[in-house]
Amino acid sequence: MRRLSPDPGETTVEQQLDSYNPCEEGREGRPFVAVNFAATVDGRATIGGVSGPIGSDADTAMLVGLRTRFDAVMIGAGTMRAERYSGLDKRLIVVESGPDGRVDLSALLRSLREEGIRALLCEGGPTLHGALQALGLVDELFLTIAPKLVGGEAPRIVEGVLPETAELELAWLLEQDGELFARYRRP
Ligand SMILES: NC(=O)c1ccc[n+]([C@@H]2O[C@H](COP(=O)([O-])OP(=O)(O)OC[C@H]3O[C@@H](n4cnc5c(N)ncnc54)[C@H](OP(=O)(O)O)[C@@H]3O)[C@@H](O)[C@H]2O)c1
Repeated sequence: MRRLSPDPGETTVEQQLDSYNPCEEGREGRPFVAVNFAATVDGRATIGGVSGPIGSDADTAMLVGLRTRFDAVMIGAGTMRAERYSGLDKRLIVVESGPDGRVDLSALLRSLREEGIRALLCEGGPTLHGALQALGLVDELFLTIAPKLVGGEAPRIVEGVLPETAELELAWLLEQDGELFARYRRP
C-alpha cells in the first residue's frame, strides 16, 4: 500500500492505524464519530443491493482494523436488513425506528457517551449517514473508492438533504491496486 498524502511512501493498514486513537479525541457530550464507506467511482454505495462486491480485501482489512480503534459500532436498520452482521467483537448499536418514529440521534449519542462510549464507528448506511451529517455529528469519514462503475439506481454514500454543503479536509490518501483509501475530517 502507498501513502499518497501526507508524506508519500510505503505503508500498511496496520501502520496507518497504529497511531490513530479516536477514543482520545474527546467531544463535548457525545462520542467522537467516524463513518466508514466503500463506494464506486460513480459514488454508489451498493452493487446488487449490498456493499461486499465494492471493496477489495484491503478495504476489509481497513474496516476490521478501524473497528479495533473504537468502543462501539453503529449501523442503520436498512444496513442490518441488507448485510450480514455477526461475530463482531464490539458492541453493535442498530438505529431503528420505534413507536415514536425515527431515533433522535443527538439524544442517542448523548446517552452513549454517558454509558462510556468515547468513540463510535458508524458503518452506514446512506440514510443514517445523511441524518448524522445533517446534524453535524460526523467528525471523520473513511471512504474507500473502488475502481469500478455501477450506474443505475444504487444509493450514494449520503442520502437525504443536508442543510448546507459540508466542507471536508483530507487527512490522508492511500492507494493499493488502483483502490483509494481517503480519510476526511470535518474542520
Ligand atoms: N458501501 C458501504 O460501505 C455501505 C455501508 C453500509 C450500508 N450499505 C448499503 O446501504 C443499504 C442500506 O442503506 P439505507 O440508507 O437504506 O439504510 P440505513 O442508513 O442503514 O438505515 C436507515 C434506517 O434506519 C432507521 N432509522 C431510525 N432512525 C433513524 C434516523 N434518525 N436517521 C436515519 N435512519 C434512522 C430507519 O429504518 P426503520 O424505520 O426501518 O427503523 C431508516 O430507514 C444497504 O443496501 C447496504 O448494503 C453500504
